[in-house]
Amino acid sequence: MGLLFNPYKSGTILAMNAQEIRKAYLEYFKSKKHVIIPRANLVPQNDPTTLFTGSGMQPLLPYLLGEPHPDGTRLVDSQTCLRAEDIEEVGDNRHTTFFEMLGNWSFGDYFKQEQIEWFFRFLTEEVKLDPAKLFVTAFIGDKEAGIEKDNESAELWEKLFKEKKIDAKVVNLGSEQNGYEKGMQNGRIFYYDAKKNWWSRAGIPSNMPAGEPGGPDTEIFYEFEHIEHDTKWGDHCHPNCDCGRYMEIGNCVFMQYLKNADGTFSNLPKANVDFGGGLERIAAAKNNNDDMFKISLLWPIVQELEALSGKTYEQELTAMRVIVDHLRTAVFLATDGVVPSNKTQGYVMRRFMRRAIRYAFGLGIEQGLCEKIVPTIVSLYEKEYPEIAAQKEAVVAVLVKEEKIFRQTLRKGVNELRKIAAQGKLSGADIFTLYDTYGFPSELSVEEAFVQGFDVSEGWKKQFDERMDEQRKRSQTATKGTFKGGLGGQTETHKKYHTATHLMYQSLRNVLGDHVIQHGSNITEERLRFDFSHPEKMTSEQIKEVEDSVNNQIDKDLKITWEEHPTKHAIEDLHVLGAFGDRYGDIVKVYRMQAKDEKKPFSFEICGGPHVNQTKELSEGGKRFKIIKEESSSSGIRRIKAILI
Ligand code: SER
Repeated sequence: MGLLFNPYKSGTILAMNAQEIRKAYLEYFKSKKHVIIPRANLVPQNDPTTLFTGSGMQPLLPYLLGEPHPDGTRLVDSQTCLRAEDIEEVGDNRHTTFFEMLGNWSFGDYFKQEQIEWFFRFLTEEVKLDPAKLFVTAFIGDKEAGIEKDNESAELWEKLFKEKKIDAKVVNLGSEQNGYEKGMQNGRIFYYDAKKNWWSRAGIPSNMPAGEPGGPDTEIFYEFEHIEHDTKWGDHCHPNCDCGRYMEIGNCVFMQYLKNADGTFSNLPKANVDFGGGLERIAAAKNNNDDMFKISLLWPIVQELEALSGKTYEQELTAMRVIVDHLRTAVFLATDGVVPSNKTQGYVMRRFMRRAIRYAFGLGIEQGLCEKIVPTIVSLYEKEYPEIAAQKEAVVAVLVKEEKIFRQTLRKGVNELRKIAAQGKLSGADIFTLYDTYGFPSELSVEEAFVQGFDVSEGWKKQFDERMDEQRKRSQTATKGTFKGGLGGQTETHKKYHTATHLMYQSLRNVLGDHVIQHGSNITEERLRFDFSHPEKMTSEQIKEVEDSVNNQIDKDLKITWEEHPTKHAIEDLHVLGAFGDRYGDIVKVYRMQAKDEKKPFSFEICGGPHVNQTKELSEGGKRFKIIKEESSSSGIRRIKAILI
């Protein structure tokens, strides 16, 4: 018998592919007396607080809280999840907005011993991952919350590794920072604090509202040995380092506590297991290739795109990844009954589709994108998800229709552009109207104007960005509350990044000059992002100077207060900082960050808040402010991403 080549295995011969991993997982847990349950709809059915199902536990929350499940106490599933807020991250080798979370569930049935052993055996004996490439973490305990160190999990792991002839050394890291300082230390089992090894929808114990369930977790990481640690993250690598060498592939949450109104914890009526594992990630681990798009559920879509565009994946990494991810998301949304519209889920779906179509346009695909790609996506999922097979024609039709509408809109936009331009110069506001009403991308407007010989006003970009920012704020409101493993509201990390943004804004002006004006800001739990006017790339010296300045102000422990002033007075007399394009009412709130012994504030900026109280809070846990990226955002606008690490 010759070697068989399976097209779904991205060139790997006879290795288990993603579809087979999913099947093997369900079967494995079925053999452990679990009932296989179907995935829940991507649109939460009884939970108006979130737009999309973002994790496996979300649809099962009532049962984790104690309600009996009709199928018993042991369940297994693969839950399709959508994290729409990650849309802008798509384009690198591992971010997707849609993914499948493998889940097995014990509602007061088995606990740590079975969970850890079963998952380890599944990985090493069914998927046949090399145990030497697996590393695990466990909870170090939290005195304040009165929760003990999870010795039991660590001991179970030790035993299992020993069976595979691996002497698993235990390392107490505690904080992430410590991980960056001390590194792996030949360890295999690592204890981290609640920031890393505690799971609740609201994050760490102190952030949890009363009535919220949570518990310690133990996580499994796969090592991509070919990835060299990148010191921009910290001196040394450790399992939770973001450089990409270690990838989390599974998380066993021991959901056993409930937060009380007085801040203490009590036991849930039953101790549960909530396991979540990324199917696509496990498949990438099996490929021993950190590019997620090479797995068998995504690669055939890439290949179809290559054929359609005549370009290669390597040439067009970002565009192809965006198109593949967004169309796959749209296929599942259509299957789950969402249609593109201007509201809620429909609005997000429309955004996904239009973004994909625009990128396809850039690849030279001017028609027939969905007609070609959607059937390929359907074919990859229809066997396991019969609801896709059952609605195949309808799904294709919904997407093809939206593509037609958008392409017509694009054409109308061209006509409109001609009309406007015939009356004089095309302004930034015109270009924005074309974008907003016709979905006509600004680059296309400018290009078309050029081709037609029309004039474009010089400051069009600024004006366009200003309108765009307002628009973005509006759409953020639309997706607010979307579940990302956390509850809405301002967390402590958010506040810190917000304060760091103010310090950085002033530092940029001090280092580069007063032409630096804020053009946009975005903060997540992981980083801050800041757009500002500056005509050229910053030098590494300038970046260092800004970092030093921010760290210096953090160390000076500036006090943060706010006051209100009439807008005119604030801007003209007090020279407070604002952001380009922001409109203010008659009175503005101004945040002041000032050292005790200094007469003038270091930063004095119009802002709604909230912020931390003192800048020293930013260096808690030995953290420093670090710029991790400086790049062009659009013409004359630079973009910085920075972290506290
Ligand atoms: N609830 C955990 C998570 O979402 C495990 O399923 O990661």
